[in-house]
Amino acid sequence: MNLGVNIDHVATLRQARRGQVPDPIIAAQTCEKVGTASIVCHLRQDRRHINDHDLEKLRQIVTTKLNLEMSCTQEIVDIALEVLPDQATLVPEKREEVTTEGGLDVIAHHARVAQVVKSLSLSGIMVSLFIDPEKPQIEAAKQAGASCIELHTGKYANARNQSEAKRELEILKESVKLARNIGLQVFAGHGLNYENVKKVTEIEEIEELNIGHSIISRAVFVGIECAVKEMLTLVK
Ligand code: PXP
Repeated sequence: MNLGVNIDHVATLRQARRGQVPDPIIAAQTCEKVGTASIVCHLRQDRRHINDHDLEKLRQIVTTKLNLEMSCTQEIVDIALEVLPDQATLVPEKREEVTTEGGLDVIAHHARVAQVVKSLSLSGIMVSLFIDPEKPQIEAAKQAGASCIELHTGKYANARNQSEAKRELEILKESVKLARNIGLQVFAGHGLNYENVKKVTEIEEIEELNIGHSIISRAVFVGIECAVKEMLTLVK
């Protein structure tokens, strides 16, 4: 299984002082050096962490896969079409949220999602939809023309007890099976950490896990190189 590291929180720390450090570009280079399969960043409409300049620099230096998380707003779509990340992951975005709260509602926004999937795909960008592990959303993602999905692992990660975690894990497994059966590539992420990731790695059909906050938090104590290596050991 591959690991994609989300480096947004390196930029969050930089933005705490609106300065130059820590530099998410150096973080991306370090992640790649120790073996991550992709670099993930989210250019939010409010630019609260990653900014346009970071994205341009990341496009220049990332040699594995640059995965841009993005909303379907025209401003961000235009930027994606210009920067041409290897992959775009469409996510819902609310200004007041602390982090991406739920999956994209592909059913409610079907026409717009399908339009964005088409325009990004025509430019050679692989498009993934970040959705909740629910059958109707998985089927809608396929209908919208996506070739891959990222299943939201938040409910599993935030489970209050073992039986809830077990139930959410079963839901993830069923969702992965369904998605693979209809020809979608499957990624997963959100809220995964050094304790809860193992069970998810046992779902073999998931190709890639995207993890951010827990790795950057661990990096504060052990350094980013070590934090990424520790997660790579668990994921591989
Ligand atoms: N995948 C997606 C689509 C996300 O929006 C995020 C959070 O930015 C992540 C993965 C990583 O989540 P976490 O920071 O909780 O590991």
